[in-house]
Amino acid sequence: VERVFSGVQPTGNLHLGNYLGAIVNFVKMQETHNCIYCVVDMHAITMPIDVWGGPAELARNTREVTAAFIAAGIDPKKHIVFNQSQVSGHAELAWIFNCVARIGWLNRMTQFKEKAGKDRENASVGLYDYPVLMAADILLYRATHVPVGEDQKQHLELSRDIAQKFNNDFGDSIRAQGFGDGLFFPLPEPLITGPATRVMSLRDGTKKMSKSDASDYSRINLTDDADTIAQKVRKAKTDPEPLPTEEKGLETRPEADNLVGIYAALSNRHKADVLREFGGGQFSSFKSALVELCVTKLGPIAAEMKRLTADPGYVESVLVDGAERAQAIAAETMKTARDIVGFIRKH
Ligand code: TYM
Repeated sequence: VERVFSGVQPTGNLHLGNYLGAIVNFVKMQETHNCIYCVVDMHAITMPIDVWGGPAELARNTREVTAAFIAAGIDPKKHIVFNQSQVSGHAELAWIFNCVARIGWLNRMTQFKEKAGKDRENASVGLYDYPVLMAADILLYRATHVPVGEDQKQHLELSRDIAQKFNNDFGDSIRAQGFGDGLFFPLPEPLITGPATRVMSLRDGTKKMSKSDASDYSRINLTDDADTIAQKVRKAKTDPEPLPTEEKGLETRPEADNLVGIYAALSNRHKADVLREFGGGQFSSFKSALVELCVTKLGPIAAEMKRLTADPGYVESVLVDGAERAQAIAAETMKTARDIVGFIRKH
């Protein structure tokens, strides 16, 4: 069975984009793959401390993402759910990969440019190195499939480049370790699927829905109650035209496209199918249906998250148990990786 790995940062405000772009697909992959889902606390601290909120907030958000995974339907007994910092192999493999990845590759990463903003000299070294740590996350488990939102595509390409360069640089050593094809690390494939791989802000259809947007009206948080969801959807930006009857008609209408995409993803339908039902109608009635759908789908998840986070002991026990099982896989990879590189170790 092939292995899936993916991660979510514990940086607060888990939103509909995280859910539809990533978590929904995490849940689906459980049927066909061995899955490892990681709360990437080491990635969270790459931003300034006031952004991720400090130690207490980091721990709280780590429990909250874990609760969201479970509430959405991830089974932490059949699969692995843990937080990154508990398995030291992530950092160790990232170091080896730092020496494989090229500065020129990292300089092309658009997310770094966005997150660092104008004051790039003042960004953390960790933020610059973020995609290398991502490659280590995935390849520590030699995972082959990585469900993510559209915004992570470039980072996944970098992971493939790192895997490929490692295999090339150490080809003879890899073969000497018994890998006849010279491929120690697989080239991980991004899985960017569904009608909502890039959920946009409710205030501006050209901007991604994001945890860090100053306006809470730009996103639907997984913990929003029914009234809040209704308000946010009703205030969501639209244009004055009725909804188009065909998908082609969405091309020049980012806000309409976004809302239809959200509806399609939440109801497990295609956009074209949604437009067959709502096309030609006004936004007001479509928005009412969207509110109802959001509340029906997200309400139970929010309630379950609340129930789970009320008992930090249970959530933390999931992370500790998951880390033990993750560690067992990681240890095997790291042993061989050390031998491949030529690091002496105890046998
Ligand atoms: P994070 O926490 O920023 O995002 C978690 C997941 O949510 C997706 N996502 C979206 N999808 C659709 N529309 C949106 N508006 C939207 N916003 C976010 C992201 O694509 C992501 O899948 N770097 C990763 C975390 C990570 C990781 C990894 C992922 C660390 N190591 C290894 C895969 C494999 C991230 O973006 O986290």
